[in-house]
Amino acid sequence: MRPNLVLGLNAALTTYAAALKLPFNIPFLSNNDQAPLIDISALLPASTPPNRIAIIGAGAGGSSAAFWISKAKERFGLDVDVDVYEKNDYIGGRSTVGYPYNNTEYEPVELGASIFVENNRNMWRATDEFGLERISFGEENNLMGIWDGQEFVLTTGGGSFLGSWMDTFKVIWRYGITAPRRTQALVKSMVTQFLTLYDPTAPRFSNITTLASSLGWTPVIASTAAEYFDTQGIGRLFTRELVDAATRVNYGQDVDALHALEGMCSLAAGNAASVKGGNFQVFERFLVRSNATVHLKTEVTSLIQDAASGAWLVGTSGTTRPRAYRGVILAAPFHSTAIEVSPPTLLEPVPAQPYVHLHVTLLSTTSPTPNSSYFGLGGGSAPTEVLTTHNRVREGLGEEPEFNSMTYHGKIKKADGTPVERDEWVVKIFSKQRVEDAWLENMFGEGNVGWVLRKEWDAYPVLPPTVSFPPIKLAKGLYYVNAFEPFISTMETETIASRNVVDLLLHDEFNAGICPAAAHVDEDAAAQKQNEKFVLGWEC
Ligand SMILES: Cc1cc2nc3c(=O)[nH]c(=O)nc-3n(C[C@H](O)[C@H](O)[C@H](O)COP(=O)(O)OP(=O)(O)OC[C@H]3O[C@@H](n4cnc5c(N)ncnc54)[C@H](O)[C@@H]3O)c2cc1C
Ligand SMILES: *[C@@H]1O[C@H](CO)[C@@H](O)[C@H](O)[C@H]1NC(C)=O
Ligand SMILES: *[C@@H]1O[C@H](CO)[C@@H](O)[C@H](O)[C@H]1NC(C)=O
Ligand SMILES: *[C@@H]1O[C@H](CO)[C@@H](O)[C@H](O)[C@H]1NC(C)=O
Ligand SMILES: *[C@@H]1O[C@H](CO)[C@@H](O)[C@H](O)[C@H]1NC(C)=O
Repeated sequence: MRPNLVLGLNAALTTYAAALKLPFNIPFLSNNDQAPLIDISALLPASTPPNRIAIIGAGAGGSSAAFWISKAKERFGLDVDVDVYEKNDYIGGRSTVGYPYNNTEYEPVELGASIFVENNRNMWRATDEFGLERISFGEENNLMGIWDGQEFVLTTGGGSFLGSWMDTFKVIWRYGITAPRRTQALVKSMVTQFLTLYDPTAPRFSNITTLASSLGWTPVIASTAAEYFDTQGIGRLFTRELVDAATRVNYGQDVDALHALEGMCSLAAGNAASVKGGNFQVFERFLVRSNATVHLKTEVTSLIQDAASGAWLVGTSGTTRPRAYRGVILAAPFHSTAIEVSPPTLLEPVPAQPYVHLHVTLLSTTSPTPNSSYFGLGGGSAPTEVLTTHNRVREGLGEEPEFNSMTYHGKIKKADGTPVERDEWVVKIFSKQRVEDAWLENMFGEGNVGWVLRKEWDAYPVLPPTVSFPPIKLAKGLYYVNAFEPFISTMETETIASRNVVDLLLHDEFNAGICPAAAHVDEDAAAQKQNEKFVLGWEC
């Protein structure tokens, strides 16, 4: 096998590297492209896998995987070709946009993943490096209300959800001062731990249960957000109304259903932003920068491991001949891919993973607020950011709200800044069921609804408390980015998961990595780098 022949020789190869055309330069040792070269591949058994990596999926996970591989190529002269297969005709996966009236002259609206925060260091860094403009989330100055299906349990004005009004007068009036303060402290310490994943010393991990334990998060993933907040002495009503509103808008799940880590992530909304023109542009840039070959409208249908060479033969729709790869990175939810894996015995089976089926309805309306009578408000004007709580149902006092959230996102704008003909607001509704036209007419007034775009997503994993997670390494040469999703599901965490997977694959199959071996990192320099917003992978 080639790994033994070429890589096992290690340091002794430095001298040969100048004389022989190795399939790649020796990582960390030499970067000598100039020497006269002889093709060593002629000496290798014909059945060795080629120096190629296939990535399945061009969302946050797959596009960033290609980018991380290109970082290793730049740093170590690793010679590897990358093919990205994507069944859609666009890049971005669950990060994509819709245009009001399907007119690309208008500013698009996020149809899937909308926001990331400053502590999402890969996303933040990528927008900086790629010169993409960030728009702050919550500039609309919406009046926010938490609706329980019968009444608003809380309304508060201005600022973005939990960003600025967590400790406003009305919140303290209803829930006291301790609950918001303790919650903020909990979230802050979670974020501090999270940020260690960008440190020079961040571990390469192959088991998420072990990672969770090393971050001190076992109790957090093993209980629901509600249970965990209760044990932390946070008021029950605060958790079951306000935190519930956050988990329902972010993950379509109630605070007493999802695990506390994802619950806290729902609250870590400090300095939230999205990319002007669409978050998907980050993922497009990752792929452009990576030089990977991207095959859109190409669905991977089979993965067959060749017994002799260990190569993975990737079969796609529309082609009869599969292509051979040394490594394959699966960057889509396993069971959604419908890929036939053969031999079917993986090192570890991938457990079934249900996803939350979410209806997203984007629309435009001339009505500056929703129908106040619907909310029983009589003459007053209704909030333009309506979040919801399950608490009335929990208390056995009423019905589930008809939607998860309904938010005004400012007026329709032309992308080039020229004025639009008439004022229309863009509204986004998340719900468990389809929102019918008649319902919209009732909510915004007859004739007041202009454009409507409906999209159904398998949005994020159903996230009950657990301590077991899907395997990351599925077989030799086959790695799974979305194993991370039942732990945390965001654009950012997919870029962290892909960094880890790329590092594992390069380590196992190419004796390389995204960065030099961690043993070389000196702790003082590491501490220094932390202060400078060092981001592992972007820097080493
Ligand atoms: C409505 C909604 C709101 C969200 N809000 C946020 C938010 O505000 N912030 C945030 O960070 N996250 C949010 N998320 C979650 C976020 O979108 C995901 O965590 C993240 O985008 C997942 O990225 P991914 O690359 O792992 O998967 P995906 O984006 O799903 O990409 C997987 C890709 O693989 C492709 N694929 C699947 N099977 C095959 C095959 N057989 N062959 C070839 N290609 C295949 C798919 O077409 C897809 O493009 C939201 C999600 C939704 C749906
Ligand atoms: C991508 O290709 C360009 C042009 O061929 C080259 O200059 C650049 O170094 C390549 N980048 C990577 C990461 O391979
Ligand atoms: C939107 O416009 C594009 C390009 O003109 C077209 O291909 C597509 O079918 C349109 N979609 C809808 C929903 O009308
Ligand atoms: C507003 O909602 C109420 C209650 O659902 C409904 O009776 C009324 O017709 C709606 N108003 C408009 C203008 O549609
Ligand atoms: C991860 O480690 C845990 C605890 O050691 C173990 O029980 C589990 O099977 C491992 N999971 C995978 C996917 O290897």
